[in-house]
Amino acid sequence: MLSNVLKQLNIIDDNNLLLGMETTDDAAVYKINDDMAIVYTLDFFTPIVNDPYTFGKISAANSLSDVYAMGCEPLLCLNIVGFPNCMDESILTEILRGSADKVAEAGCILAGGHTIQDDEPKFGLSVIGLVHPREYWRNNTIEEGDVIFLTKPIGVGVLNTALKGGLLQEKEIKEAIQMMEMLNKVGYDAAKGLDIHACTDITGFGLAGHAYEMTNGTNYSMEIYHQAIPFYKECEEFLNMGLIPEGTYANYDYVGDSIRYDNDLKPWMKDLLFDPQTSGGLLFSLPESDAIILEKRLKKQNIPSGIIGKVIGKEDQDLIIKE
Ligand code: CO
Ligand code: CO
Repeated sequence: MLSNVLKQLNIIDDNNLLLGMETTDDAAVYKINDDMAIVYTLDFFTPIVNDPYTFGKISAANSLSDVYAMGCEPLLCLNIVGFPNCMDESILTEILRGSADKVAEAGCILAGGHTIQDDEPKFGLSVIGLVHPREYWRNNTIEEGDVIFLTKPIGVGVLNTALKGGLLQEKEIKEAIQMMEMLNKVGYDAAKGLDIHACTDITGFGLAGHAYEMTNGTNYSMEIYHQAIPFYKECEEFLNMGLIPEGTYANYDYVGDSIRYDNDLKPWMKDLLFDPQTSGGLLFSLPESDAIILEKRLKKQNIPSGIIGKVIGKEDQDLIIKE
């Protein structure tokens, strides 16, 4: 729907805009000169946890993630804030404090922002990074024989829905919160010196949606080994209860018929593939020998991550789910 709206806009063409609205990459890329391009992105959302300091950290990690997914470090950012007049200002202070701590951890400079009165709190960042105009990571430049590597477990969409419904307490899902707060700088740093062919981060479209974006329009398909996917164990119970985030259905529609199941997946496992993530991990496409190095580096830091798929020649569907 939105893509139809965007088509009607008056937009200036500029050859220096290396990545703009026509792609599904994680950020815009604009070339300044032969050695430098700007990576430019923004993201914001409503609270997913009750603790405002934690929300600030998660939202900042999520916004900074798109810059790491493009293969560079965030340099500069601005706060985007919606906040109700009737709410205690100390809550806003905590959100901003959480974000500032993450931004500082990223080595990024907070340079300003803008706040408006809003019915419910909203928070995020607009972020800029600098990159060489030929060395950034795109999401669909996968190559045949690559393996697919995921740097965080999936399932936080289900857990966030359970939190909202009062079926879970934040203290019961410490690991998931820790992972949402964790900067994708960790995955980015671990990938240094490796031959990364493509990268994206897992957010609203879920693992299946973002994997689909990596393959869509290419000459390849992707096998995904569902048993290899790291996920939060609590998800099984909640999905079986029918606690399915609204975004999951939109993600089913988005991927449509471009997916084939070569084995009998239980319904909850299927739902998990489409579960919308907040501050999810990076999804890399790279040669297997490099992925083994990446795995060693992340395992050393106790991060549940690993090879979950493989790029193969074009089949009848973009995504093929296997054992
Ligand atoms: Co992204
Ligand atoms: Co290569």
